[in-house]
Amino acid sequence: MAQIIAMHSHRGGTGRSSIAANLARLMADEGHRVALVDTDIQSPAAHVLFGMTELRGERTLADYLIGQCEVEDAAAAVPVAPGGAELFLVPARAEASGIHEIIAQGYDVGLLREGFDRLIEALRLDVLLLDTHAGINNETVTSVASAQTLVVVTRSCRLDLAGAGETIEFANHLGCPRRALVVNMVPPGVPGEAARARAEAAYGSTARAVLPYAPELACVAGDRLFADAHPDHPLVERFRSVIPALLDKD
Ligand SMILES: Nc1ncnc2c1ncn2[C@@H]1O[C@H](COP(=O)(O)OP(=O)(O)OP(=O)(O)O)[C@@H](O)[C@H]1O
Ligand SMILES: [Mg+2]
Repeated sequence: MAQIIAMHSHRGGTGRSSIAANLARLMADEGHRVALVDTDIQSPAAHVLFGMTELRGERTLADYLIGQCEVEDAAAAVPVAPGGAELFLVPARAEASGIHEIIAQGYDVGLLREGFDRLIEALRLDVLLLDTHAGINNETVTSVASAQTLVVVTRSCRLDLAGAGETIEFANHLGCPRRALVVNMVPPGVPGEAARARAEAAYGSTARAVLPYAPELACVAGDRLFADAHPDHPLVERFRSVIPALLDKD
């Protein structure tokens, strides 16, 4: 059965999109059929991270939500490593297109959930990874409510951790069965164990991964995903090592 994994964080800029895109690629390289859906219609990122800086004519999630295409028409195949399985990307929207209709008219949120199910079936997926907008909006609620695994990404700063209570309540309310706390961007000079302890105390749960601030990721240039540009980077190794904890092997 396919697994749905949703990313979430209380505040923006924690690294959700970067982590989701790299995990999607690494999971596909390991042989899982994966689709990454960028549900962040307000601030799309996934297509940029995969080097699709301009979307010209490609269908998107927004096009599907406003009735202009089937959701699987918005799934672009992304090349994977030799021996890997297939990877698909559903971009949130092209520049400005779709956003006006969605803001002006809204859309039937039921379509989003239907779209997830349809993608799983049409693309024969093992994993559907959902990138989301920070905080709580319709797309995030639907994504988290649809997921078996919720990946909560936080920095270890006071502002991020102040949202822990609300995040826990949100996840409890939506009944997401499995949760994985990821502490990201631990600054140089801050011991990883100290950052872990702060985050674990705030969230009352064990962190699945503690990821350092990596300048190479912050300034990755060109059109390549970080895991492609730096396959041997220790951060990529940490991304790989978190995959088993996210995939329910039952
Ligand atoms: N571990 C890290 N080390 C250094 N830079 C990082 C790390 N993780 C993410 N970044 C950088 O931080 C910035 C924000 O990352 P990203 O867009 O993935 O976060 P986000 O949570 O999806 O943001 P948003 O809330 O805007 O959607 C990007 O420039 C990214 O390259
Ligand atoms: Mg993002």
